[in-house]
Amino acid sequence: MKSVFIGCGAYLPQRSLSNAELAKTVDTSDEWIVARTGISNRHIAADGELTSDLAYNAAVEALAAAGMAATELDLIVLATATPDETFPATATTVQARLGVAGIPAFDVQAVCSGFIYALAVADNFIKAGQARNVLVIGAETFSRILDWEDRTTCVLFGDGAGAVVLRAEATNGDAGTAQRGIMSTHLHADGRHHDMLYVDGGPSSTGTAGFLRMRGKEVFRHAVGNLASVVGEALEANNLDADAIDWLVPHQANQRIIDHTVKKLKLPSEKVVLTVARHGNTSAASVPLALNEAVSDGRIKQGDVILMEAMGGGFTWGAVLARW
Ligand code: ACO
Repeated sequence: MKSVFIGCGAYLPQRSLSNAELAKTVDTSDEWIVARTGISNRHIAADGELTSDLAYNAAVEALAAAGMAATELDLIVLATATPDETFPATATTVQARLGVAGIPAFDVQAVCSGFIYALAVADNFIKAGQARNVLVIGAETFSRILDWEDRTTCVLFGDGAGAVVLRAEATNGDAGTAQRGIMSTHLHADGRHHDMLYVDGGPSSTGTAGFLRMRGKEVFRHAVGNLASVVGEALEANNLDADAIDWLVPHQANQRIIDHTVKKLKLPSEKVVLTVARHGNTSAASVPLALNEAVSDGRIKQGDVILMEAMGGGFTWGAVLARW
């Protein structure tokens, strides 16, 4: 069995927040943020707008693009580090709104790598024959865990959601579909680096939600190394050269981190999907948001080879190579 992408969707909160607006409340400037990160703008969820709301909207769009009724789903996997509540899983809230009680639904927590981890989980359910139609969502409201007085972190992140629908298809199935789908998934973690990127709260430690804390320079150094290594691993596992990649859909943390990966792969910049300037870092939502944009505007076409990668708190990192 192969996990074939049959639709995608996304949702961004209406309110956008520019660098210039941010510079009115925190000691920063558009020039500094653009030069260090490539970010100009980000979207911020409205009061009362929850991660599950963003996720639901992206899911509805993905199901419509797939031409699939929610009742055909047999699994929902949602990646988030900013769930509505400590429990239940935000995936179950989305499930209830979609009206598909009974099927398994759970969250995956791998911060910015969450969508890559969730895709790997879904792919393994499909390969094991335990699911046929899977909704995979990445959704975040990082604005709720930012210390808006800390200029070293609050300028970097935004809110949003993206979703895909995967369908199990036999590798020797109908013409045109046999070669499509996820080729391989590659996941890693190294928990020794907790202190470089974490949230200083939680139900078992402080009893409060806490704020994101980061040692930016060290995170940058690890991100560059880990991403270079995992994209190489994905290509090697499939006996492919970087020339075979039609589209790199990277985690949109920072333009300079993406540039390092692009340089390592020697990819022409036209093959890279970029949303970081407009969305900022939306954590688990960043890869599906970028994916959806390039599919919707016709850049990514059926049969194209796409390489998705991400790195996040934990540290966690990973890559998925697929044929769209
Ligand atoms: N505006 C203006 N000045 C700032 C700002 C800001 N928003 N933030 C920091 N500065 C100042 C610092 O205080 C420092 O001033 P000083 O020299 O007087 O002490 C100066 O700018 C340089 O700060 P550095 O931290 O050395 O800046 P650096 O070049 O490392 O850039 C950045 C910081 C952008 C955070 C970078 O380290 C980075 O991108 N790291 C990766 C972080 C990341 O992407 N994390 C996301 C989660 S993990 C992931 O998704 C991969």
